[in-house]
Amino acid sequence: MHDPLEILKSLVRDAAVAALGPEYADVDPQVRRGQHADAQADLALGLAKRARKAPRAVAESLVAALPPNDLIERVEVAGPGFINVTFASSWLVKAATERLRDPRLGVVPAPAPERITIDYSAPNVAKEMHVGHLRSTVLGDALARLLEFRGHTVIRQNHVGDWGTPFGMLIEHLLDRRQQSSSDYEVSDLTAFYKEARRKFDDDPAFAERSRRRVVALQAGDAETLERWRALVDISKRYFETIYTALDITLQDRDVAGESFYNDRLTPLVAELQERGYAREDNGALCVFPTGFTNKDKEPLPLIVRKSDGGYGYATTDLAAIRYRLFDVEATRLLYVVGAPQTQHFSMVFTAAREIGWLKPPARAEHVAFGSVLGADRRMLRTREGDSVRLVDLISEAVARAEAVLETKAPDLDAETRTKVARMVGVGSLKYADLSNDRVKDYVFDVNRMVSFDGNTCGYLQYAHARIRSVFRKLDAAVELGPVELPATDDDAARAERTLVLNLLGLGAAVDAVETTLEPHRLTSYLYDLATSFTSFYEKCPILSSEGAMRASRLALAELTARTLSLGLGLLGISVPDRM
Ligand code: ARG
Repeated sequence: MHDPLEILKSLVRDAAVAALGPEYADVDPQVRRGQHADAQADLALGLAKRARKAPRAVAESLVAALPPNDLIERVEVAGPGFINVTFASSWLVKAATERLRDPRLGVVPAPAPERITIDYSAPNVAKEMHVGHLRSTVLGDALARLLEFRGHTVIRQNHVGDWGTPFGMLIEHLLDRRQQSSSDYEVSDLTAFYKEARRKFDDDPAFAERSRRRVVALQAGDAETLERWRALVDISKRYFETIYTALDITLQDRDVAGESFYNDRLTPLVAELQERGYAREDNGALCVFPTGFTNKDKEPLPLIVRKSDGGYGYATTDLAAIRYRLFDVEATRLLYVVGAPQTQHFSMVFTAAREIGWLKPPARAEHVAFGSVLGADRRMLRTREGDSVRLVDLISEAVARAEAVLETKAPDLDAETRTKVARMVGVGSLKYADLSNDRVKDYVFDVNRMVSFDGNTCGYLQYAHARIRSVFRKLDAAVELGPVELPATDDDAARAERTLVLNLLGLGAAVDAVETTLEPHRLTSYLYDLATSFTSFYEKCPILSSEGAMRASRLALAELTARTLSLGLGLLGISVPDRM
């Protein structure tokens, strides 16, 4: 552990046990950065009642019981019982200097690496990807990168919607189109294609009948039908891949385990549920009733595992998927990055898996739910025509706006570099907006704010990085970095320098927080604070015009800031330009 705040937490916890008793081992030390000192611990106020002592007396007994250590230089009890802590400068500079030789920048490998499946992206074949899929894709990819960096084995699961009744009409429509056009018909606009098929299905009873027969043929494994189905799937897959490439997403073809992948497993799965007596008939359908779920009339709510027509649905596939992930993939942590509207579906699936005895500790499943993307009118983001907004259009818009911002903010860039940087800023901004917003909340999609360089934005962080790199471009290659030192004075400049050092030591804790909570905004907030503290350091502490040891120390702090921004954003799937 290298983060002074994290070490302080465990010291305070130890003090609580020593001073108040073993039942205080899990107390929240309420440690945070301080107003009047480097840090403060506020737990005494909350503990007073439980410990039956005045808050100040609790604080004093905690201070007296702090184990010996070389981190803390001074502790004071202030006001009603706040514990103010000043760290030893010698400790801080040693930790910061050591960080220069640590390529992981304080992110230690997980002590107990796990196998983790992450179900994310999961677009639907023959349909356009929309902003909901964007959130899943961006959040899931960030979590995958971060957990992998921590040393876990991440198994990406792209649960593509590539099976089911719509394929009947889609295949028939594809056949019609190919017959009509003399040249080989290519689907270029998936949304339009889907809509045409839908319209024909609704208006033309003969077409609808053909489509229904086609579904039966598909489910029966008819070779010609399967071949046509495969053609449609391939068109969509190629399209998804262009989006993944444009967004710099790590998903590959081998990560696709779509709904069709589970097809062969559904019949045996349903048989297993029946043998165990967990599934029962209800109105002709075979259902399972996970405990604790009822409708508004207090009747048990079913997961339908086999429809009355014998077909299988979304829930059946998810039961097969959870079973596969537990027993074939042998994962112990199962993440599902899917929108909040599917919360009940997943709690039912998880409960069922627990009740059948598949899902048991140490394995656990978590629905990584997220809110909707809203338009400026605070309603679901739609085009003026009322369609859902296409992902490709969003990406090109973000890149174009980023390019316009760069034209004014970075007029010195040559055209070629600007185009490259605009892509990093545009795509990075799309991702950053998604990641920096509280995951479960809805957020308003505002491209202009996203690509701005002011405030908690991607551009601000990327710009801080580029600025540091430009400082180093002005120096010769053999520049000396460190050791880090802190001035003994207590003025604005010294405080800015100290704050930067404290922030630099916090990356590991921020990454830990994301691993536990699955909330990437904890890392973006950390990086934003770091960049802000760098900005004020940069304003108050001249780097290039300083000399000797001070210059070497400040260069080291600048270098560490750049590396931390680059690694931290990289874990979120965002790249940083060296100039902008
Ligand atoms: N394809 C689905 C949709 O677009 C999402 C699938 C999520 N994953 C799952 N295992 N159900 O809504």
